[in-house]
Amino acid sequence: MIEVKGLYKEFDGKMVLEDINIKFQPGECSLIIGASGSGKTVLLKNLVGLYEPTSGEILYGGSNFNNMKMEEKKQFRREMGMLFQESALFDFATVQENVMFPLDFFTDWSFEQKLERVNFCLRRVNLENVNNLYPNQISGGMQKRVGIARAIATNPKYLFCDEPNSGLDPTTSIVIDRLIQEITREYKITTVINTHDMNSVMEIGDHIGFIHKGRLVWEGNNKEIMDSDCQPLNDFVFANNLARQLKKNK
Ligand SMILES: Nc1ncnc2c1ncn2[C@@H]1O[C@H](COP(=O)(O)OP(=O)(O)O)[C@@H](O)[C@H]1O
Ligand SMILES: [Mg+2]
Repeated sequence: MIEVKGLYKEFDGKMVLEDINIKFQPGECSLIIGASGSGKTVLLKNLVGLYEPTSGEILYGGSNFNNMKMEEKKQFRREMGMLFQESALFDFATVQENVMFPLDFFTDWSFEQKLERVNFCLRRVNLENVNNLYPNQISGGMQKRVGIARAIATNPKYLFCDEPNSGLDPTTSIVIDRLIQEITREYKITTVINTHDMNSVMEIGDHIGFIHKGRLVWEGNNKEIMDSDCQPLNDFVFANNLARQLKKNK
């Protein structure tokens, strides 16, 4: 479990996140939704330790990353899988090398052991016979699956995804969403996904936190979201949901 307590983050006196309190449970996809610029990426970067909170704390299974010693930090990093836009695949490396990278970094396994794990992860995301291809030789949806295979290579407890559907068509997006959800449930991973895609919200939103101007202003699930009386949330949902919009205008 991850517990965020009274988290504030500011840059040069500008408050970007204010008093965020939320818990993320294992085996569940938690979606962080909100308009562009609302603070989703900054929150995720605090969760993975790329940014340090201005105040407040983040507890992972009860421990605070910022208080850990160097060796503990490294061990802990191994437990985090990431699917970030910036940490896209290395285009100079093959699919196999991409997925093996975290194993090279975090383990002292033999090449054969690593290869076995790589192949297991590739099979898990329904990719076979692509080991020796380069990222630019496979489709965008396949690239995302390689990214997921790489993120789960070290068998992480936590998985963080920043806009995993960006650049994908709606059908491929749903395939990726479902894959992340399946893996999350199967391995009891605590998964946090940033998105502004309402399809994802309806598809896999068992737990949703809505951020508006740096504050968490609503929390619930995809069944409750349509009936909320939170105005900024409704503005966000309706702006994203053409069907509802059309229905409303009838
Ligand atoms: N490193 C940074 N330094 C200063 N401001 C930042 C930095 N990163 C993000 N911000 C600001 O924080 C706000 C939230 O950004 P972000 O979390 O990227 O939004 P989102 O992911 O919801 O679109 C924006 O106003 C952005 O300009
Ligand atoms: Mg973002």
